[in-house]
Amino acid sequence: MTNMEESYLNYLKLVPQIHSELSKPFVGREEESKVILLALLTREHAVLIGEPGTAKSALIRRAAQLLNMRCFTYLLTKYTEPAELFGPLDINALKEGRYVRITVRKLPEAEVVFLDEIFKANSAILNTLLTIMNERLFYDGYTEIKVMLWSLFGASNEVPQDPELEALYDRFLLRHYVKPLSEDMWRDLLKYSWDIERYGYPQPEITLDRATIENINKLIYTVNLNAIETKLLKIFSILESKNLHITDRRKGKALKVIAAHAILNNRLIANEEDLAALKFIVPHDIDDFERVNIILSEELKTSYRYLRELEEIAVSIREVNNYIISFPNINSRFIEYRLLEIYRDLESTRDRVLSMIRETNDEKVHKKGAEIVENINEVLEKIKKKMEGR
Ligand SMILES: Nc1ncnc2c1ncn2[C@@H]1O[C@H](COP(=O)(O)OP(=O)(O)OP(=O)(O)O)[C@@H](O)[C@H]1O
Ligand SMILES: [Mg+2]
Repeated sequence: MTNMEESYLNYLKLVPQIHSELSKPFVGREEESKVILLALLTREHAVLIGEPGTAKSALIRRAAQLLNMRCFTYLLTKYTEPAELFGPLDINALKEGRYVRITVRKLPEAEVVFLDEIFKANSAILNTLLTIMNERLFYDGYTEIKVMLWSLFGASNEVPQDPELEALYDRFLLRHYVKPLSEDMWRDLLKYSWDIERYGYPQPEITLDRATIENINKLIYTVNLNAIETKLLKIFSILESKNLHITDRRKGKALKVIAAHAILNNRLIANEEDLAALKFIVPHDIDDFERVNIILSEELKTSYRYLRELEEIAVSIREVNNYIISFPNINSRFIEYRLLEIYRDLESTRDRVLSMIRETNDEKVHKKGAEIVENINEVLEKIKKKMEGR
């Protein structure tokens, strides 16, 4: 194994470890941790939306604990001044007629930014955020600085209604609706929050630094996406037909999130499972989160169901094949009848497989299906020979 391959493998192992380290102190927050991690791996931004007290801020703070990077955290209100985020004006420079901000330890110098109540941003802050997020440039009308921002995380109780906030919202490639825990998790919740209250958050066993994140980010572009591209396009058009519109920016960026999802699952080859990551990219309004989930689980389940069924058919074909081989070459009415019965069963199984192939675009189903059809044809041929007494 080359050094390169070895470090690839190490990164592949590291990512699921970080995922479990992130979600460890919480009950039922694996999906939320996944979103945060997908954003970090893809150098994108993520927003968590949900009712108060669902651990949105706590998760983001936990992420900051795991990152060995310069972080900036702030809670926005509609009264927040640009200076609070971007740094105060340099008075001495101002006296000389220059307009300069002191950005030390403020947002423009951070690699990871956490903005709570992000949609409270007023328009002075908003415009500066837009270029920071998209162009990685800090520009306040006077000074232009290239920033080191890797990912920005936002939290909010609701999706923004104000059209002025639409551009900001679109810059969050990943969006997730955090639901309160269901009743079956309440017992665990008591135990976990007891521990958090008593001991605080556990010290992380591993941390991520910038260089590592940059390397894992490069790894994304080596993921083999051949198996999912057709299906992805099909899902895009299904969503569109159901009035779930995805902006072109988001469509184009979907692939890298899908690839990051494969890496999160320890793979360098994407499969249909990874298309589930679309549930973080497609939703816009609150209702969309549930709708997209349902559409995706139906769309993606079909292929899984088919593959499982094909697996079972493959086993039974092997059994039939062995049965036929062991069949005596005696020409009796009974044996002839039995063979004919098997022949007809096989034919209808073949029809079933062919219809599965027709109904899905999934390449794995196509390949497996074609294999099985071929096996069935061979067994049919054997039966014919038996019946002809050869
Ligand atoms: N799923 C959970 N597992 C463990 N602790 C939890 C969970 N949900 C909430 N908590 C506890 O509740 C606290 C409140 O969460 P937090 O302040 O992060 O909520 P929030 O979603 O940011 O709320 P707000 O929208 O009001 O800002 C957490 O610090 C944590 O102690
Ligand atoms: Mg909060």
